[in-house]
Amino acid sequence: PIPVIIDCDTGVDDALALLFAVRHPGLDLRAVTCVAGNTDVDGVVRNTLTVLEQAGAPDIPVARGAERPLLEPARSAPVHGADGMGDLGLPAPARTPVDVDAVTLLHREILASPRPVTLVPTAPLTNIALLLRTHPEVTRNIERIVFMGGAVGIGNATPVAEFNVWHDPEAAAILLTAGVPVTMYGLDVFRQVVVDAAEVHRLRASAEPGTRLAGELLAHRPAHQGEPPEAEEAGGLGDAGAVCAVADPAGLTTGLLPVEVSLAPGPTRGQTVVDRRPRLGESEIHEGGRERALVDVALEVDAARYVRLYLETVAR
Ligand code: BDR
Ligand code: CA
Repeated sequence: PIPVIIDCDTGVDDALALLFAVRHPGLDLRAVTCVAGNTDVDGVVRNTLTVLEQAGAPDIPVARGAERPLLEPARSAPVHGADGMGDLGLPAPARTPVDVDAVTLLHREILASPRPVTLVPTAPLTNIALLLRTHPEVTRNIERIVFMGGAVGIGNATPVAEFNVWHDPEAAAILLTAGVPVTMYGLDVFRQVVVDAAEVHRLRASAEPGTRLAGELLAHRPAHQGEPPEAEEAGGLGDAGAVCAVADPAGLTTGLLPVEVSLAPGPTRGQTVVDRRPRLGESEIHEGGRERALVDVALEVDAARYVRLYLETVAR
């Protein structure tokens, strides 16, 4: 199986991603690290531990990470209810996180892995940026970073910026320019992978706790401002789609394109500026002398294929 580490801000759809990673036979979830985002970092740790217990994976190490973005103050987004995870009334976890911080756990687990690790951040990129700056040698044992974040087109946190990148744009810029192969699973594909209501109903009726939890999570409607109507429906796999893309990359169509994060204050801050102009020459790739990262940007997704994969994996 592919060694995987998820860095998350659990989060309804982060929880869906964890359930999938735990249950997919082709993935070996080696650790989970937590960062402030959907809710404060202590809430994220609690939600993450609870989800892993419900999924029947209580032994995966979980570490607490950054409380706030690199430059901005802490600000959580109330789109996933008061507890950050849909207010489902889930039990408190039985265990506590490991006694080292997220950066230390990431460093340790990445270098200890017998095969290069695929990192899957589904949250603001603060922990990953701190890791890459503190322990740059980890890149030698990272296969690829597949992150949920950014958008080629319409944003959600702002008209042009996606929440995870907008929350900590400097961290996203550090990730993109780290010299590691990166796949950007952005809002353009994120919004498309939706489970229909009948399937959600079936999952909610299951007697198996992990399957039932997936159903409850899918029934939650995120409250992102300014989302297109289809994204306001329940059933979106959200972050879990990025993990599907690790297990089944053939479901995603990507293009290797220059991407730059807008760091300027003002209306474009946090935008991922993706250059889709055809036949770019060297001079445009290094626009204005700035080195722009070449990123595998998700452009299309086979949504039905990922929904099928998700249900087959989680609803056993
Ligand atoms: C991202 O923001 C969070 O609310 C979701 O968990 C997802 O990671 C979408 O913009
Ligand atoms: Ca998330």
